[in-house]
Amino acid sequence: MMMNFPIISLEKLNGVERKDTMEKIKDACENWGFFELVNHGIPHDLMDTLERLTKEHYRKCMEHRFKEVISSKGLDVVQTEVKDMDWESTFHVRHLPESNISEIPDLSDEYRKVMKEFSLRLEKLAEELLDLLCENLGLEKGYLKKAFYGSRGPTFGTKVANYPQCPNPELVKGLRAHTDAGGIILLFQDDKVSGLQLLKDGQWVDVPPMRHSIVVNLGDQLEVITNGKYKSVEHRVIAQTNGTRMSIASFYNPGSDAVIYPAPELLEKQTEEKHNVYPKFVFEEYMKIYAALKFHAKEPRFEALKESNVNLGPIAIV
Ligand code: OGA
Ligand code: NI
Repeated sequence: MMMNFPIISLEKLNGVERKDTMEKIKDACENWGFFELVNHGIPHDLMDTLERLTKEHYRKCMEHRFKEVISSKGLDVVQTEVKDMDWESTFHVRHLPESNISEIPDLSDEYRKVMKEFSLRLEKLAEELLDLLCENLGLEKGYLKKAFYGSRGPTFGTKVANYPQCPNPELVKGLRAHTDAGGIILLFQDDKVSGLQLLKDGQWVDVPPMRHSIVVNLGDQLEVITNGKYKSVEHRVIAQTNGTRMSIASFYNPGSDAVIYPAPELLEKQTEEKHNVYPKFVFEEYMKIYAALKFHAKEPRFEALKESNVNLGPIAIV
């Protein structure tokens, strides 16, 4: 059955539509791995300012560099499909456990300040969402936050991306298909230029651009903790011929030493054969494997971390 991409109005959690809204979130988590939030409480003028500063920064500091890299690799004149790179221009900022924004070059004071304010809002929103997931899963409030905590709290960071206008979108992806490694991902995407797609029932479905919305998706760690009740879903970015797409993706992930494993409450409710599908591991071990296998299927990543395979070394995971 084809259904419309789930759009959730968060303010409805405060009124008579709370139950319906929780149900919609549950359905989105179980069947899409993605949903789009409106009325999420993040001020629209803050988003507008961040968008303006991000686009200015791209034009001033990133665009020239991107074009140089593309032409030095001959990617502007390719005739066959390029499978080992993405048509994207990015930089990364870490917010937690400690911010590195003062070390990122070429950002104006205003851009740093606005990015910081936005990230604080998103951090709160991510934690609010984790508690809504707990409620839907029948886990105690705070369970997921605690599961991500490790010894120093969660890792939270932002990938600022622009997917430049591309002459040959059929030959090179903006970003190749993958699932996200971490916990919960919040995306502020361009409201005009589209390109993000998710894989649903074997079909690529567009994530519709919508002004001032926040797109949410679930990463591999939530699949493990929920013992597969929620799944991380494959997605990709198609570069566009009609303009550059901005995307500001923020990743709320476990701390590097957090130990990740299926919640015992969810294991108990499941049948025998669903036990032992997911391993128990330290998050940074997962990230080492992910770094090498990001654009591959996720199942071998889970397999590689099962206790019996841990000492087999890299041969076991390719
Ligand atoms: C990612 C990702 C999507 C986008 O960085 O993992 O999926 O639209 N980004 O930038
Ligand atoms: Ni992703």
